[in-house]
Amino acid sequence: MLKSDILGMKLKNPLFLAAGILGTTASGMKMVANAGAGGIVTKSFSLEANDGYDNPTIVKIEGGVINSVGLASPGVEAKKEELKELQEMRKETPVIASIYGDSEEVFCEVAERTKDLVDAFELNVSCPHAKCGFGSNIGENPEMTYDIVSSVKDAIKDVPIVVKLTPNVTDITEIAKASQDAGADALTLINSVGPGLRIDYQTARPILNNVLGGIAGPMIKPIALKCVYNTYKTVDIPIFGVGGIKDYKDVLEFMYAGASLLQIGTSIMYSGPEIFQTISDDLSNFLEENGYKNVTEIIGLSHEL
Ligand SMILES: Cc1cc2nc3c(=O)[nH]c(=O)nc-3n(C[C@H](O)[C@H](O)[C@H](O)COP(=O)(O)O)c2cc1C
Repeated sequence: MLKSDILGMKLKNPLFLAAGILGTTASGMKMVANAGAGGIVTKSFSLEANDGYDNPTIVKIEGGVINSVGLASPGVEAKKEELKELQEMRKETPVIASIYGDSEEVFCEVAERTKDLVDAFELNVSCPHAKCGFGSNIGENPEMTYDIVSSVKDAIKDVPIVVKLTPNVTDITEIAKASQDAGADALTLINSVGPGLRIDYQTARPILNNVLGGIAGPMIKPIALKCVYNTYKTVDIPIFGVGGIKDYKDVLEFMYAGASLLQIGTSIMYSGPEIFQTISDDLSNFLEENGYKNVTEIIGLSHEL
């Protein structure tokens, strides 16, 4: 019922781990795969190691969290060692490497060095709290996004390229089209929203060391859904939906809006990795009870009504 084939990845279900949550070490990613995820997106990494911001880097808000981890990650060579340990797992649970950089050269080099170890790349041009020149500094600009995507596409022939976009723009469909024109094979919508702020009411100090951070969790779901819904009508490539998914009803909404594949991040912090099995079971039951034969039948349904 949940099987699908996306970008050459044979999936037992379309529910992936989102970048940044439990995707740093091989053991964390295997744990999520064993808990029932259909696929894994790694924590974003680049050429060099990056310590990210000092603690505190994450704070709870109503309906989610604000984080300013700042793309903390080992460099590509250390990450390769983790990826090598996932090669057996990849036969059942595909792995998408989330990579970032501040230039075409860096994106291409990271991709070149890891392309034999992964099923696809997700280009993170959308982190809202990355240092200047990285993340949403690129993805807010259609020309810069086009240049990065087309150069990675030129350099990497056999591995699909997914582009992860920021919602923090006037018109996300413009960046989506630029990505598609540059050769993207799919889009991931959305990275975290904002940035946003929390202040300690007793000390009057901002709680995060970096002051601002990206907003994630159920409270951003309506924004993510809007981005998927609007973009579905303007591109021909698959859309991966992410933002606030916590149960099978959220998955249904994203798929009706046009997502072919879903990613789950913040809700794992509240419900644990078992969330993948729970949502898979609930989704299968819903589809069966409503007369569907395969989950792919509901993609974009809202647009046909
Ligand atoms: C603690 C934390 C770390 C994250 N790190 C990354 C990252 O390294 N790369 C990336 O593309 N997105 C990162 N994200 C964004 C998520 O992948 C996702 O796009 C966003 O949180 C919305 O999904 P959610 O509401 O299910 O968490 C991070 C989010 C959180 C909460």
